[in-house]
Amino acid sequence: MPLPALSSAVHVSRRLAGVALLALSLGTASAALGHGDVTPQEVDTKGLPDLGEAPLMENPFRPGNQHADLYDEAVAVGERGYAGNCAVCHGIQAMSGGLTPDLRNLEEWDDEFYLQRVINGTERGMPSFKSNLDQTAIWAIKTYIESVTP
Ligand code: HEC
Repeated sequence: MPLPALSSAVHVSRRLAGVALLALSLGTASAALGHGDVTPQEVDTKGLPDLGEAPLMENPFRPGNQHADLYDEAVAVGERGYAGNCAVCHGIQAMSGGLTPDLRNLEEWDDEFYLQRVINGTERGMPSFKSNLDQTAIWAIKTYIESVTP
């Protein structure tokens, strides 16, 4: 089946090109590290409960879930956390420029996947945030992303 094989090869090479471009722009970004704009930022989660270490399966701040009453606070905390840690790669207001996944495409059932990605990162350009974001901050950021998802 030459056609599907070809199209998937094209897909892979476009993806690689994107990663190469990203690596280039990251090179520039790390040159700017001295200015402090891409250094992982601690996030002040005051006003939100400490969600502890045991991984939750779902965003607890989403309407209908356990801490839905704190939705607005979570969006505010998440907006700061997103701006300081994610926007540089995933775009302002989570609008991806195309080189990184558009986080607005994540669905509710991707919650577990989202948490693992942010904690562990990947070998293809997604850093691990284990050392500077706790679970409260990570779900607050998710809540912010959901708030800007059309
Ligand atoms: C240095 C650039 C960079 C930063 C900073 C960054 N990411 Fe990523 N992220 C990536 C790249 C590149 C991928 C794709 C990785 C892959 O496919 O292996 C990715 C993938 C993801 C994914 C998986 C999405 C999917 O559909 O596969 C999630 C979730 C994610 N990032 C969330 C975040 C959050 C939340 C933050 C901020 C706390 C963040 N990222 C910060 C580069 C970054």
